[in-house]
Amino acid sequence: MLDLFADESPWQEPLAPGAVILRRRALATADALMQGIGQVAALSPFRQMVTPGGYTMSVAMTNCGSVGWTTDRHGYLYSAVDPQTAAHWPAMPDVFLVLARQCATEAGYPDFQPDACLINRYAPGAKLSLHQDKDEKTLTAPIVSVSLGLPAVFQFGGLRRNDPLQRVMLEHGDVVVWGGDSRLFYHGIQPLKEGYHSATGAFRFNLTFRHT
Ligand code: SIN
Ligand code: FE2
Repeated sequence: MLDLFADESPWQEPLAPGAVILRRRALATADALMQGIGQVAALSPFRQMVTPGGYTMSVAMTNCGSVGWTTDRHGYLYSAVDPQTAAHWPAMPDVFLVLARQCATEAGYPDFQPDACLINRYAPGAKLSLHQDKDEKTLTAPIVSVSLGLPAVFQFGGLRRNDPLQRVMLEHGDVVVWGGDSRLFYHGIQPLKEGYHSATGAFRFNLTFRHT
């Protein structure tokens, strides 16, 4: 079959100090990543978590790896057990781990050892409000974030909530890596627009790798 993207090789775009976008870097493994998401979700289904403030998140989430990020009425935490199944989160598929480590290295963070992968699923209208990733003990490790399916507008600010925001469109196969000086920068996803993508249908998926 003719693949229109077959000879689109990945390229890098600097985003902020310590942060870079690896455009289309996950395109070659996108099908395998989608299979991995299916396998994880068969064991630990997507669910809309409730924040400590009582707000039901519009993004549906699951996790793989030795620990997973969860929120409930009591707070945010990393736990080895999926509270919904009472079993351990599914293991991180090899294709996830290899990609995350390669991307971190290419972005200047060798020796990244992610133990958690949060999987976000956005339906049209779903968004992620401006926040910092700060529930990890190891702030020396970067965040590696992989986008699949429908495009979304990613907001990337600074250390303070009201710092000016950059807005960049993240498309199928794009990977953002942030660490170092930007590890605690505020970021978010604007409400997803309706659409159809051949790899993901009416959704956008995001994989966020962390060393907790
Ligand atoms: C996140 O901040 O956890 C996810 C960002 C994204 O969906 O691209
Ligand atoms: Fe985040």
